[in-house]
Amino acid sequence: MNHKVAFSFADGKTLFFPVKPNEILLDAALRNGINIPLDCREGVCGTCQGRCESGDYSQDYVDEEALSSLDLQQRKMLTCQTRVKSDAAFYFDFASSLCNASGPDRLSATVTDVRQISASTAILHLDLGTATQALDYLPGQYARLLIPGTQSMRSYSFANRPSSSNQLQFLIRLLPDGVMSNYIRERCQVGDEIVLEAPLGAFYLRHVAKPLILVAGGTGLSALLGMLDELAERGCGQPVHLYYGVRDAADLCERDRIDAYAERIPDFRYTEVVSDPSPQWTGKRGYIAEHFNTSELRDGEADMYVCGPPPMVESIKSWLQDQTLENVHLYYEKFTESNI
Ligand code: FES
Repeated sequence: MNHKVAFSFADGKTLFFPVKPNEILLDAALRNGINIPLDCREGVCGTCQGRCESGDYSQDYVDEEALSSLDLQQRKMLTCQTRVKSDAAFYFDFASSLCNASGPDRLSATVTDVRQISASTAILHLDLGTATQALDYLPGQYARLLIPGTQSMRSYSFANRPSSSNQLQFLIRLLPDGVMSNYIRERCQVGDEIVLEAPLGAFYLRHVAKPLILVAGGTGLSALLGMLDELAERGCGQPVHLYYGVRDAADLCERDRIDAYAERIPDFRYTEVVSDPSPQWTGKRGYIAEHFNTSELRDGEADMYVCGPPPMVESIKSWLQDQTLENVHLYYEKFTESNI
C-alpha cells in the first residue's frame, strides 16, 4: 500500500504525494514533479536534506559529512537515502519555488560569444531569446548544459544575475581533456544551439542582513559573480568582501569586472590569493583562509558564501571551526570537475 507523504517548505507551501512501499523518497518526489535540490544522490553532499516532522522512516547511507549524529537525533534526513515506513511529513528549510514543482525548464539557447579569459577559463555567453519567458533563477544557482554532439551534461553556475533579456553567462574551467573543454576549444561557435536545464541548486544569495564574505576557488567565481551582479543592481547596505583564490596567477579572470564592482557596491573589498605562484607574483600567496581578515570576521556577525573545489571548502570549514567563529554563518557549494 502506498504511503501519503507531505513536504512542507519555508515559504509555507505543502505538497502531498504518494510513495510506493520501499521506494526511495527522492524518486517518489521526482516522479511527482517535486524537484528537491540534489547533487550526489549518494548520501554524501547533504544537498537534499530535510527534517522528518512525523512518521517512521529509515535511511540507507548517510555520510557523516552530510549529517552529524546530532543531526540524526534531530530527525534530519537525506531525501535521496530515505524510505518511509508509514505516512509521514517532512520539512525543508528553503522555498518550494526551488523545487520547481513542474521540473527544471529544459530550454534551448544560442551561443552569442565564447572566449578564453585566463589560462584555464573560458566564458560562454548564451541567449535564450525572446520566444521563451525570462528564465527565473536565484543568483548562485546553476544550469546543466547538454554538450552539443554528445549525450553528456555538465553543471555550471550562472555568472550573471537573471535578466528580462534572457542573456546567460557561465565560466567554464578548461581541462586538458574534458567533454565540455574539448567542445569549447575545438568546436564551439557563435550560433551553436545548446540545450540546458535550469534552475538547479540550493546555493543562492539569501536575504542580506549582515556583512558578506564571498569566497571563490577557481571557477567557483562564477556563482559569486552572479551574486555580485545582484548586489550591485539592487544594493545591499552591507560591506562585501570577495576573496578569490587560484593556483597560478595566469588562472585569474574577470579582474576588470571585479574592480568595477567597487564603483557600484559601497564598501566593496577584494582580495586575490595565488596558492602556487611563480617567483614574479608579488601579491598574496598561499591559501585563502590564511588571508582572512580575522578582526573583520570577529566584529559582529557575517554571512560567508563559499564556492569552489571540495578541499578548499573543507579547509575553510575547518578554519572557521578552529577559530570558533560561530558568528559566521556559512553557505557553501562544492563542485567536482569531471575529467571525462
Ligand atoms: S543528493 Fe547528495 S546527499 Fe542527497
